Amino acid sequence: MIVLSVESSCDETSVSIQRDGKVILSNVVLSQIDVHKQYGGVVPEIASREHIKGITMVFEEALEQAQIPKDDIDLVAVTKGPGLIGSLLVGVNAAKAFAFANQIPLVGVHHIAGHIYSNAIERDLAFPLICLVVSGGHTELILMEEHYDFQKLGETMDDAVGEAYDKVARTVGLGYPGGPIVDQLAIEGQPTYPMPDISMGDTFDFSFSGIKSHVINLVHNIHQRNEEVHVSNLCASFQEAVTDVLVDKSKRAIEQYDAKMFIIAGGVAANKGLRKKIDEQITDVEVVVPQFKYCTDNAAMIGIAGYYQYKKIQKTDDMTLNGASRLRLE
Ligand code: KG4
Ligand code: ZN
Repeated sequence: MIVLSVESSCDETSVSIQRDGKVILSNVVLSQIDVHKQYGGVVPEIASREHIKGITMVFEEALEQAQIPKDDIDLVAVTKGPGLIGSLLVGVNAAKAFAFANQIPLVGVHHIAGHIYSNAIERDLAFPLICLVVSGGHTELILMEEHYDFQKLGETMDDAVGEAYDKVARTVGLGYPGGPIVDQLAIEGQPTYPMPDISMGDTFDFSFSGIKSHVINLVHNIHQRNEEVHVSNLCASFQEAVTDVLVDKSKRAIEQYDAKMFIIAGGVAANKGLRKKIDEQITDVEVVVPQFKYCTDNAAMIGIAGYYQYKKIQKTDDMTLNGASRLRLE
């Protein structure tokens, strides 16, 4: 089965083609990071316009690289939400037009299902599994007892972890997106700054707004005293506290649900500190982490999720499919 997939929920325009929900034949990602950098974050209106400029070219490039005639494509999958509505609509409409013109069935896919299924690229998932979803918009612990069955055990009560990373980076003037820069500096520093307790007790829920505000206040206080912030130590302290809570709760969920596999998903899954801690501390189940190139937004993961969704639910979408900025994962 050949799937063509489209992702445009935020600031990456991406089209991919895969075979049998495993093999990636092409995965073209056009990033807008350079466009948004000067504003310190994604500007939704500009993002939509950039998607419109790039989408046709990205489609053509993905078809060219995969060397697949359009007639061989069995399914079109597209991110229907959640995300920036203007951005989503460009991908959804491009996918609908392609599916309609070539008479191919269409499925709308949840963006987070895509991140989760980035772990199924060239690998089999084993159930029950626990997935830690850590992205710019989401922080969730999910239990999967079978394919395409998502039970949310807990989630963030306020900021997503990627959002907190980006805010910390901005506070110390590190640019956008800050996550990878904080990660790099954290490796060079020592966790010398005290951080607040962010454990939220015995629940599987998270909260990152407190530690974010703590870092902002700390930096302001240091500046008021005319002292210098030791940036790499600050990054190390923040990263240590955040990765501790992510790994602790994951370990507890693995134990409580007798998981066979643990996977991570989303942009922050690229975090080296998090990967190291998982490697050291989660040793009694099979651990799968996505390849770096499939951690941040890309269409390949949407196609793999679309493949399993179609196999499990057997339901396709029609030409009334629409984007949704907010959408539950079910
Ligand atoms: O999943 P993603 O590409 O987009 C969303 O769906 O949100 O995640 C983007 C987020 C950004 O907040 C970015 O700073 C963060 O992932 N990120 C990282 C790292 N690489 C990307 N955060 C921490 N460490 C990293 N290495
Ligand atoms: Zn994402």
